[in-house]
Amino acid sequence: MTAVGIDAIEIWTGKLQLDLPNTFAPAKGEDPEKYTKGLGLETSSFPDTYEDIVTMGANAAKRLMDRRDLSPDDIGRIDVATESAFDNSKPVSTYIAGCLEQVYDGDFHHANKGERKFACVAGTQSIDDAYNWIRAGRNRGRAALVIATDTALYARGDPGEATQGAGAVAMLIDEDPSVVELSTEQGYGSADETDFLKPNQQFPSVDGKRSMQVYLARMREALEDFESVAWDTHPDDFEFIPFHTPFPGMVRKAGLLGYRHMIRGTDIEDDLEAEIGRQPRESEYDSWDAYEDAIRDYMDELKRTDRYRDWYGETIEPTLGLARRVGNWYTGSVHVARAASLKHAAEQGVDMTGRKLLVGSYGSGAQAEIHAETVRDGWADEVSALSIDDQLDRRYDLDFDEYETVHDAHNHDLDAEIEEFTQPDGEFVHTGWGRMNERKYDYVE
Ligand code: COA
Repeated sequence: MTAVGIDAIEIWTGKLQLDLPNTFAPAKGEDPEKYTKGLGLETSSFPDTYEDIVTMGANAAKRLMDRRDLSPDDIGRIDVATESAFDNSKPVSTYIAGCLEQVYDGDFHHANKGERKFACVAGTQSIDDAYNWIRAGRNRGRAALVIATDTALYARGDPGEATQGAGAVAMLIDEDPSVVELSTEQGYGSADETDFLKPNQQFPSVDGKRSMQVYLARMREALEDFESVAWDTHPDDFEFIPFHTPFPGMVRKAGLLGYRHMIRGTDIEDDLEAEIGRQPRESEYDSWDAYEDAIRDYMDELKRTDRYRDWYGETIEPTLGLARRVGNWYTGSVHVARAASLKHAAEQGVDMTGRKLLVGSYGSGAQAEIHAETVRDGWADEVSALSIDDQLDRRYDLDFDEYETVHDAHNHDLDAEIEEFTQPDGEFVHTGWGRMNERKYDYVE
């Protein structure tokens, strides 16, 4: 069977940054270490006044098409995943195609376009759609463009304000891919939950603490479901495990839970027995509560062992390098984590070809998805072409008043007109609204 997976990746960050420990925390009267140590964040990306989900998505896609010398005829599908859409009917992919048609010869008139919604898991679902379309033989030799783009803004004063971000990830899904091949095996953990939602409103209603519990519960179900169709996973099976990363502190919890699950009944549990005992088994306890307390105690011990810390440092920590600097990109977040881990491997000179990743996506509402990926031999060229470090270094650093002004400028209910902080250069920009309230875009040379 021909391999299908991710052939190319490009990342576009919002052009402003908010320094969380040094600007946000003091203004909120909080300890900066809540951000650096607790949540694991340094800065969040924000969109400048002329940026939105369309410009960021189109700019990421243009970089990808230019770098791979693609024309619109090479693309048979454009799927956009977002939870920041501004229209209940016209999909963001049509706006992005319209932008790209301004700068390329040809058009996307024969490309299938859509918009995927399931909170942050929608980016991974769009990859699934592309995978299935290719596997079904409906692609006519063409590739799919998947774009995950979001402005993750929360109402001011909401606890979620600590975990904002803005940016886009564009991915080319194709046969014989250069970056990773996707496993056919997938696991799902899905339930009707109300941890985070936006019922026809721009800023989310969030039960933050509940969303963290739901993330872990659904992720665990998804791992069990994956194992039921794949194999009993072992921590050493995977070079990296990129998770959906709303903030790195969330992944710290997910990594520990996953490790505990994977070592059960393995050589690692045996090796750790003398140090911390064996994992509690449900049958040994009279009640579920007593069992859960015992599991919690075991996890507290487990996370202090050298064996776990070494594994976490090698397998999980490298996935967080970009998230610490960009914050939450919702649908793009897990794809930023994958890119960060491959970028880390390239910087360390590790040959990843043939090695495996386990990818854990999550969307509130709620659904987790887990699948495996096998790294392909073009990965290093792709990853070394990313310009994300330069983009991050060039961001304009907002002071707190500027942050509040930018937040207002992106608030759909306010009419705040402000000057941009950066100069657009070789990119798509939002220029205003047309007669039917549609958004208008131009390419600035
Ligand atoms: N030094 C070290 N750690 C500190 C600290 C300090 N001075 N102050 C706080 N912390 C730790 C807390 O102990 C906590 O870690 P823990 O969860 O391991 O206990 C973490 O920093 C966050 O602090 P907390 O007081 O819980 O922050 P908060 O009330 O602002 O809420 C979220 C954090 C994530 C719930 C909130 O930002 C949110 O609602 N975000 C949006 C929803 C989301 O992203 N959900 C994730 C699943 S999708």
